[in-house]
Amino acid sequence: MDKIIEQVKEYYGKELQSKNDLKTTACCCSEKPPEEIRTILPLIADEIHERFYGCGSPLPPLLEGKIVLDLGCGTGRDVYIASKLVGQSGHAIGVDMTAEQIETAVKYQEEQCNRFGFQTSNATFKQGYIEDLKSLGIADNSVDVVISNCVINLSPAKEQVFKEIYRVLKPGGELFFSDIFADRRIPEELTTDPVLRGECLSGALYTEDFRRLMEKTGWSDFRYTNVRSIELTNEAVLKKLGFASFSSRTVRAFKLNDLEDICEDYGQVAWYDGSIADHPHFFDLDDHHRFFTNKPMLVCGNTASMLSDTRYSKAFKVVGDRSVHFGKFDGCTPDSSEAKIKPGSCC
Ligand SMILES: C[S@@+](CC[C@H](N)C(=O)[O-])C[C@H]1O[C@@H](n2cnc3c(N)ncnc32)[C@H](O)[C@@H]1O
Repeated sequence: MDKIIEQVKEYYGKELQSKNDLKTTACCCSEKPPEEIRTILPLIADEIHERFYGCGSPLPPLLEGKIVLDLGCGTGRDVYIASKLVGQSGHAIGVDMTAEQIETAVKYQEEQCNRFGFQTSNATFKQGYIEDLKSLGIADNSVDVVISNCVINLSPAKEQVFKEIYRVLKPGGELFFSDIFADRRIPEELTTDPVLRGECLSGALYTEDFRRLMEKTGWSDFRYTNVRSIELTNEAVLKKLGFASFSSRTVRAFKLNDLEDICEDYGQVAWYDGSIADHPHFFDLDDHHRFFTNKPMLVCGNTASMLSDTRYSKAFKVVGDRSVHFGKFDGCTPDSSEAKIKPGSCC
């Protein structure tokens, strides 16, 4: 464990000085962020952009006034975007173990505060481990939204990371993160290769093991919102890892204690009111739930909870409860033949 941690610190603290030093495209985001975020990007300092190594755009909507925690924040790009989105009444916290990354993030605190027109900075950075948020003073049930961009794959103790996220989130809180996943288990000897690990490849979780891990750590139902395959072109990397396929995925999950392991039908119906910024006509909860504005949609019990017992309840009306059960929710749980793209155990 310590060996991997030290290798990764070395990679992000010393080896990489900017995106140009990356050897693969795994830590490069090609996901187009929503308009609300695109307008904030020009307000972020150049050096932070140059040292951004994310593989997605894990910034969900409805963040105003919320507490957002970014795990493995690097030089703070997503923390600063979150800081702008939560506004002066909210708070964005970034955690990273690599001193050089945190130092760069902190260096821009005042400048970003001025660029956003805030009176005081609402961004805080903490140097430490995402496996142990307690020792950083992050209390139980204290965070509204946990985000992370291309980091959890690097952790040698992923089970501990998902347990910590569950602990710190408030009930109804959201985990929204982008990461690299593999279509099979990566052989042990490759997981300590400093370049393959540092490039976010050899620590990547096999998607089915990820599903098992989520279930084990309390996340009974999670959803993919974006899946993009990664093309490896570096010959040296292909020689070692060419047997596997990798994808960058964005995952949405909620801390809700009534989620079931498969979708169940209670005859509940959900309406989206069109009020989420940049989503006037529809909102995608995940890659297979598109809610058109004002169109009622029959939903399973889990989806109903995700829309009514979280901050999304601001934009959704959900009718019905779980008092009458109509059996398994048809058309939601995929065949086992589709297990490779199965978004969690449900839907
Ligand atoms: C691929 S970079 C992504 C950084 C940032 N999220 C971004 O989008 O630019 C991975 C970051 O995670 C940090 N990291 C990796 N493992 C960590 C751990 N176990 N605890 C804390 N930080 C970690 C590294 O120091 C590095 O800054």
